[in-house]
Amino acid sequence: MTDTYRASIERSAALERDIAEHPGNYRMLTGDRPTGALHIGHYFGSIQNRVRLQESGAEVWQIIADYQVITDREIAGDIQGSVRNLIIDSLAAGMDPAKATMFTHSAVPSLNQLLLPFLSLVSVAELQRNPTVKDEAASAGITSISGLMLTYPVHQAADILFCKGNVVPVGKDQLPHIEQTRVVARRFNERYGMTFPEPDALLAPVTHILGTDGTKMSKSKGNTIELRMTPDETAKRIKGAKTDSDRVITFDPANRPEVANLLTIASLCEGTAPEQIATEIGDGGCAALTARVTEAINTYFAPLRARRAELEQDLGYIDSVLADGNKRANEVGDATLAEVRTKMGMMYS
Ligand code: TRP
Repeated sequence: MTDTYRASIERSAALERDIAEHPGNYRMLTGDRPTGALHIGHYFGSIQNRVRLQESGAEVWQIIADYQVITDREIAGDIQGSVRNLIIDSLAAGMDPAKATMFTHSAVPSLNQLLLPFLSLVSVAELQRNPTVKDEAASAGITSISGLMLTYPVHQAADILFCKGNVVPVGKDQLPHIEQTRVVARRFNERYGMTFPEPDALLAPVTHILGTDGTKMSKSKGNTIELRMTPDETAKRIKGAKTDSDRVITFDPANRPEVANLLTIASLCEGTAPEQIATEIGDGGCAALTARVTEAINTYFAPLRARRAELEQDLGYIDSVLADGNKRANEVGDATLAEVRTKMGMMYS
């Protein structure tokens, strides 16, 4: 573990305590790229945490980063469908539009306009060093990085700063972007006068779930369990999960990662320790394990899936949640842009 990562974890723990005590001091901004259906990795890795933070009383903003979809792919696919799905999944998981503002990049011109002054504060060399951008380009098999891909961390700074967000719940891979955001805020403030907070990352409690083949959960690999799957589809996916031939089930992440992963999933759903579940299955073998995991997932997600099915029937409501969120984001973004232009001496009327 690096020193900066350890420092971020310590800072996050202190932040958690302060948010619990003074939720009114925080404006939280979270976000996702609308690239497809959400899966249980997203749920246990971030959405559950987001709902918890929303319930703490802090103000929550949730950006659906549609422009970020075209950073590492040419075609955005059915972007409107993905945006709606993200809202449906979020609402079904417990996000509340009365407490959380949901909006898209593309509908908030003032947010995007902040990118221009922000880019003037950042060097090309600095952008080229961003480890997350390099990793994403490599895993997408991109050899020629587009201008948008190179600069999207600065765009992400605009996502956070346009509403003066001061805390950003994220995973470890996003830490370079939060650091970039802090640098942009600091440099802007130095040059033009105090305007933006320097936001903190809030690292989610680490929950590592892998796909059913034991590798990173990813839609393109067909190894995900999506929130929207039916119980039968879930059963089928888990049945095809990679396991091993040892009849006695043990929780041994180092030597039996695939079995341990299934036990972890069951544990998250049941609220029982994975070792305990392993002991209960004993020599029942992998058939008993997959049956137990399937049952655990289908039971845990049944209420969410029921809400999801209802919400899916009412796309008019889903679109109105987004329209309200976009309206509010525009109001706040317009005010920030006006302040920025005034500080920069570019307010002409
Ligand atoms: N880059 C984030 C991801 O890939 C999504 C994102 C876009 C985001 N804008 C954001 C996250 C602002 C936090 C804050 O997951």
